[in-house]
Amino acid sequence: MDLRQLVRDVPDFPKPGILFRDLTPLMRDPRSWQEVIRQLEEVCERLQPDLIVGIESRGFIVGMALATQVALGFVPVRKPGKLPGSVTGVDYALEYGTDRLEIISDALEGGPRVMVVDDLLATGGTAAACAELVEAAGGKLCGFGFVAELAALEGRRRLPEEHPVESLIIYT
Ligand code: PRP
Ligand code: ADE
Repeated sequence: MDLRQLVRDVPDFPKPGILFRDLTPLMRDPRSWQEVIRQLEEVCERLQPDLIVGIESRGFIVGMALATQVALGFVPVRKPGKLPGSVTGVDYALEYGTDRLEIISDALEGGPRVMVVDDLLATGGTAAACAELVEAAGGKLCGFGFVAELAALEGRRRLPEEHPVESLIIYT
């Protein structure tokens, strides 16, 4: 099954010069989406996480679907001001802007092995910040899973090299 056939390319979104890889047609097709989650489940079997962390907002869609499939807990990493109580945060740069990520401070209590999941790896700023956050909150990162990766942006190089980075669709 060629998953990339169901990714829609949208030029100049959300800013001029950005070729947006829209995964919503893939999500809309049940068999293809099941295949996405099945392939990520295989990644999970290799990494053996105790918990799935998903990054707002598209990472929630992928991460929670995976967590449910593999019967693991899910922890959201969110944009600032969205999570209640005591939070731990880190600032980061995007392909098209800057932002901050936060996690509930005691969400990774006990030092679980954590797999970070997002829909897409671009510059790697978001995933690198999430990795930093996971460690700051006491988790043990065990690797990353993405549906798509824009390899030309070399996001992998920004991620901690000791952990596997698995992407189902790679744009070279
Ligand atoms: C997108 C995408 C990743 C990130 C990848 O999220 O879902 O999280 O950008 O870019 P990077 O590798 O250059 O950091 P975005 O911040 O657009 O938010 P959204 O998921 O809420 O649309
Ligand atoms: N997130 C960051 N860059 C992106 C792109 N080019 N397409 C889809 N999502 C993105």
